Amino acid sequence: MVEFTLPANSKVRPGKMITDARGAKRTKVFQVYRWNPDDGDTPRLDEYEVDLDKFGPMVLDALIYIKNHVDSTLTFRRSCREGICGSCSMNIDGLNTLACTKPIDEMDGDVKVYPLPHMPVVKDLVPDLSHAYAQLASIEPWLQTQSPAPPDRERFQSPEDRAKLDGLYECILCFCCSTSCPSYWWNPERYLGPAVLLQAYRWLADSRDEMTGERLDNLEDPFRLYRCHQIMNCTRTCPKGLNPAKAITEIKKLIVARRG
Ligand code: SF4
Ligand code: SF4
Ligand code: FES
Repeated sequence: MVEFTLPANSKVRPGKMITDARGAKRTKVFQVYRWNPDDGDTPRLDEYEVDLDKFGPMVLDALIYIKNHVDSTLTFRRSCREGICGSCSMNIDGLNTLACTKPIDEMDGDVKVYPLPHMPVVKDLVPDLSHAYAQLASIEPWLQTQSPAPPDRERFQSPEDRAKLDGLYECILCFCCSTSCPSYWWNPERYLGPAVLLQAYRWLADSRDEMTGERLDNLEDPFRLYRCHQIMNCTRTCPKGLNPAKAITEIKKLIVARRG
């Protein structure tokens, strides 16, 4: 008989329940994925019942309250708490999103908080993004030119050319999209994924960049680009309202166009 084994850390056992809501009028239970590489245990789901009147309206406010007042061992990333830095991306009630912009009152019942899916976990809610960052570096995400810069001014862009970057420059590299993409789940080593491909198109679309041919050569590959099958999970989940699937289509159109 065929036997299947689950990957390490994919089985989550019930954890501890901590109540910190004595006398509270409005309470909520947060079920939070916990895993510590140092204790040798499998992951667990800890439950924290907290008083909603003690912190702000977002899921990140609850996590910060829990860390500061209930369980200091809880580990997660955050920085700006304004939806700008991309640090606090995680899976909340089944959706990859930013904890700092996800209102608690959008969710009925207990709130389930997991790390971004299909990524190795460093600890608790912190995914290991090393490979995703290496993929980002591979597309050389900076302005590249061959012509000399004007001696007396910056490289200007017309308002029309600048507008072509709208919907691209706002990406905060939270990787919510890539970690929601089935093609990226199955081929994370070779498919670049929607976050990195949106970044690649951001430089292809920049009128000042002069390395279009080299950039397209780097992308024209059955795996790096063409694993996208337009499933659209990426666009549905992006917390900044961007459309990585459209950016990927635009790259494919550029490749077709240069074939003539
Ligand atoms: S496209 Fe959206 S979901 Fe993807 S990395 Fe950028 S901001 Fe995050
Ligand atoms: S549209 Fe492409 S990149 Fe986006 S989720 Fe689907 S396969 Fe992934
Ligand atoms: S803390 Fe910066 S995006 Fe959430």
